[in-house]
Amino acid sequence: MRSLRDATSKKTTADVAIDLGTSNTRLGLRGKGVVVDQPSFVATQAGSRGREVVAIGKEARRMLGRTPANTQVVRPVREGVVADFEATEQLLRHLLRRLPTTTLLRPRLLVCIPSSTTEVERRAVTESARAAGGREVHLVATAVAAAVGAGLSISEAVGNMIVDIGGGRVEVAVTSLGGLVVRRSVPIAGDAMDEAVRNWLRDARGLLVGERTAELLKRRVGSAVLLQDPPQMRIRGRDLETGAPRELDVSANDLVEPLGAMVEQIRDVVLEALRETPPELCADIVAQGVLVCGGSARLYGLTDVLRDATGLPVLMADDPDLCIAEGAARMLDDSALLARSLEVS
Ligand SMILES: Nc1ncnc2c1ncn2[C@@H]1O[C@H](COP(=O)(O)OP(=O)(O)OP(=O)(O)O)[C@@H](O)[C@H]1O
Ligand SMILES: [Mg+2]
Repeated sequence: MRSLRDATSKKTTADVAIDLGTSNTRLGLRGKGVVVDQPSFVATQAGSRGREVVAIGKEARRMLGRTPANTQVVRPVREGVVADFEATEQLLRHLLRRLPTTTLLRPRLLVCIPSSTTEVERRAVTESARAAGGREVHLVATAVAAAVGAGLSISEAVGNMIVDIGGGRVEVAVTSLGGLVVRRSVPIAGDAMDEAVRNWLRDARGLLVGERTAELLKRRVGSAVLLQDPPQMRIRGRDLETGAPRELDVSANDLVEPLGAMVEQIRDVVLEALRETPPELCADIVAQGVLVCGGSARLYGLTDVLRDATGLPVLMADDPDLCIAEGAARMLDDSALLARSLEVS
């Protein structure tokens, strides 16, 4: 791998921005923003030439829990990092083909990765992206891309705190002068919440449900705080005792306790990052507030919990799901911003 300085001594640009996430993968192009947004799922079948892809994205996710024995639905990314190299390559290759342009035979890719990844994890992303057809692969910390996406001026000597609450990981970073001053991360986010909801339904209500139902329930009525007039949702599952299908009404308040452990961990990692932040930058964050993004930032009441715990203004990005990919797309032809990317190979 070349050092960042060598790589950026000439004007650097990239063609496609990729936010490769545990739950969703987004591709962005310069001037166009996010043009592909698909769940990170790959369905394969055993064929004559090994495992062949039968579906990608939404279509593959729909197959989850409904596949015959010879079909497998894989989630290539877990806890924010590549867990299945081959499936990641397949996902990226297929999504790159969906770009509305024919000029990109072997595009240069800018891939967002968690700021706290190890060298080995970074290499896995780089190699998957290359194998998927990338000519050159730049890596950028998701926190930096998120800050750009939210319109923060990351190049100045001003501290910004960014909290990305995704599907597989919570990342807290403080940026200043385009670099990362503090980085903290826990592999607990949306997936862990789904699991907690599922376990609660099984243990407290004797109802077995699939991953998709648990996630839908969380998204529709999940809450980090108790509510006066909690919304409800009727779900279907299988009774643990009788094995028969059964319906159940679940209220937002039922889910506060099962989700509580995750909410507390998210709060604690933000508090830890604040404790590590140098005083001058802390003062900036007090003035500017904490930016939250990522799909799980949408959990009802979560930003209120963070606001209460930190005593700071907590601002949700305008589009928390797309903010990272939008920011990365904006970085594509900005060589000064790209110079902030972590490494290039
Ligand atoms: N309204 C909502 N309430 C709670 N959670 C939500 C809501 N909407 C989406 N989510 C959750 O957001 C998560 C997906 O967020 P996002 O797309 O940011 O993750 P990702 O970038 O793929 O994951 P990561 O960055 O951790 O690798 C999923 O767990 C999803 O269930
Ligand atoms: Mg993400």
